[in-house]
Amino acid sequence: MTRTMNVAMIGGGFMGKAHAMAYAAMPMFFWPAPAIPHRKVVVDVTDGAAETARDRFGFDEASSDWRSVVTRPDIDVVDICTPNNVHAEIAIAAARAGKHIICEKPLARTVEEARAMTEAARAAGIIHMVAFNYRRTPAVALAKKFIDEGRIGRILNFRGTYLQDWSADENGPLSWRFQKRIAGSGTVGDIGTHVVDLAHYLVGPIAEVIAMTKTYVTTRPIQQGGVDKLGASEKSADAERAPVDVDDEVVSMLRFGNGAIGSLEATRNAWGRNNFITLEIHGTKGSIHFNYERRDELQVMFADDPADARGFRTIYTGPAHPYGGGLWPIPGLGIGYSETKIVECFDFFTAIATNRQPSPNFDDGLLTELVADALIRSGETGAWEKV
Ligand SMILES: NC(=O)c1ccc[n+]([C@@H]2O[C@H](COP(=O)([O-])OP(=O)(O)OC[C@H]3O[C@@H](n4cnc5c(N)ncnc54)[C@H](O)[C@@H]3O)[C@@H](O)[C@H]2O)c1
Repeated sequence: MTRTMNVAMIGGGFMGKAHAMAYAAMPMFFWPAPAIPHRKVVVDVTDGAAETARDRFGFDEASSDWRSVVTRPDIDVVDICTPNNVHAEIAIAAARAGKHIICEKPLARTVEEARAMTEAARAAGIIHMVAFNYRRTPAVALAKKFIDEGRIGRILNFRGTYLQDWSADENGPLSWRFQKRIAGSGTVGDIGTHVVDLAHYLVGPIAEVIAMTKTYVTTRPIQQGGVDKLGASEKSADAERAPVDVDDEVVSMLRFGNGAIGSLEATRNAWGRNNFITLEIHGTKGSIHFNYERRDELQVMFADDPADARGFRTIYTGPAHPYGGGLWPIPGLGIGYSETKIVECFDFFTAIATNRQPSPNFDDGLLTELVADALIRSGETGAWEKV
């Protein structure tokens, strides 16, 4: 019989919704499931917020005290969906209590925190994962398969962007994402790390970076209420403002350990771009292009095609592609953000069931944090910085 595992989810906001949905849906997609995740307890900052999350996201219990929850003997998995400032504290306590952990990205605010989390997880011998879910988009996993099979040859160049516009309005509220004390960094940690993770996944470790960082909006209206509004509502030019102390944009060149070169751009101030994650990878035998806003599609060009047929082709992901057996039975039915989280959930519980660390785990999260740190350092020094 498939084992049921009790989940304690800390944080019932945007990611809480995505993870709760994945717990419910994963066994419906992937059957037999590696385990049945049971939504046992959800924790938020107040009893009221936790109770709302319990009722909305289908948990048995609500709590406003994560410390007492993560040590409970009936909890198997701790899921960290809080802002970045409490990732380390919760993960270290959960690891010491012997719980398996999935932690939202970025792993932590700083390299020091990420290192402490990684060491605690290793010492405890638990399974750990960091939730860089864009790797789990089937088209991105297909790109990885083509690269691993040598279909585009040796990689020469990686171009990665993550462009959004939710913070372009200077009257968008001062969410926790604009506060270094809570977020650690701005665009670098929030969305730049997704590109770094994709670069590591598809190409290999980044060894050196040179970056420019920029803060365009230096004060924002103070936000009312706890849950992040991502600049969507609450616009008020008259509200009291407070300083933004993180970056709005990062533009960087990259040197990979394997000799490839590349670039990374991330901003939340690019009007008209919503979740514009693009990857373009050139190899000695072909090229790959991906755009998350058209996430069912992978564009590939194989240089060994006959000369009169050369060019990018569009592959719509479906049953023939990674995770296709569990997702939808016809290509192009539509992969959404939820599916990336369902696949992530499947990979996490498969790792627990097989007692093998998933990827990306905390070690990978720490490597990404080292790159983020180098990007911020380089933004300050203007020099190439080693990772
Ligand atoms: N993988 C992705 O694509 C992705 C997307 C968005 C956010 N994230 C990450 O997910 C994490 C959460 O982001 P979000 O967008 O869900 O934020 P959010 O603001 O929507 O929700 C965070 C929730 O955590 C609660 N919380 C804060 N401190 C807490 C504490 N000490 N104990 C219990 N609950 C607490 C808040 O009250 C809120 O309900 C962040 O690390 C963020 O970087 C990842």
